[in-house]
Amino acid sequence: MVNEYEIKKQICDIGKRIYNKGMVASNDGNISVKISENEFLCTPTGVSKGFMTPEYICKVDRDGKVIQANPGFKPSSEIKMHMRVYRERPDVNSVVHAHPLYATSFAIAGIPLTEPIMPEAVIALGCVPIAEYGTPSTEEIPDAVAKYLQHYDAVLLANHGALSFSDSLLNAYHKMESLEFYAQLLYQSKVLGGPKQLTDAQVQRLYEIRRQFGLKGKHPADICPNAKAGKPSCHGCGGSCGDKADSDTVAMITKLVLEQLGK
Ligand code: 13P
Repeated sequence: MVNEYEIKKQICDIGKRIYNKGMVASNDGNISVKISENEFLCTPTGVSKGFMTPEYICKVDRDGKVIQANPGFKPSSEIKMHMRVYRERPDVNSVVHAHPLYATSFAIAGIPLTEPIMPEAVIALGCVPIAEYGTPSTEEIPDAVAKYLQHYDAVLLANHGALSFSDSLLNAYHKMESLEFYAQLLYQSKVLGGPKQLTDAQVQRLYEIRRQFGLKGKHPADICPNAKAGKPSCHGCGGSCGDKADSDTVAMITKLVLEQLGK
């Protein structure tokens, strides 16, 4: 039996973490947790997620309709995006949306995170694609995100931020933390002259380790058509395996950024 009050407190704790770590500014970001097939707890709209108490947290059904909310509180304006993730991913029990500085900068520059540069990021995330831009609070974002949901546990949202999801609130938050750290390392190593990427063989070994550990969730190691065919994984393809146009675009943008930085 889930203790709702306990989960509300946990949502407030994670809200504090994303706020204190600078992953959200002002009233940005939202968090939700699935507590049964038709009940979800979520952060309210328009409040700082760093200063919430359990009374702030709303309860909605699988359509995002309010089941319970205290006076003055309405569910997040992005609740449709959360609900789409739950609908398409029955294994997911929590969704976190934030605007971390480095990950959002890549999302704004249009550069997906596809460079295998450190083992932990490769194992936890593989690569992170960018879902096409959509107007916040409309069906545009859920629609844009939908096509990536079967393949990844984290996506960038073009010109907006990042979305992560997992089997628990802590794991969904950790995905967001790993994503931001990966983006930060990638950015910094580009400033230092460009990262030395892991080789295809090294990436394949890490993917194999992930499979052996039986880690939950979706990951390019499990779905990448290239990896399945015994070829090098989808790192470098921009999250759409074999789509040469995408990787060319990424290479061009990266070159332009480095030129601007005088590298
Ligand atoms: P809410 O406060 O409505 O959840 O919106 C915050 C946000 O970040 C929208 O993208």
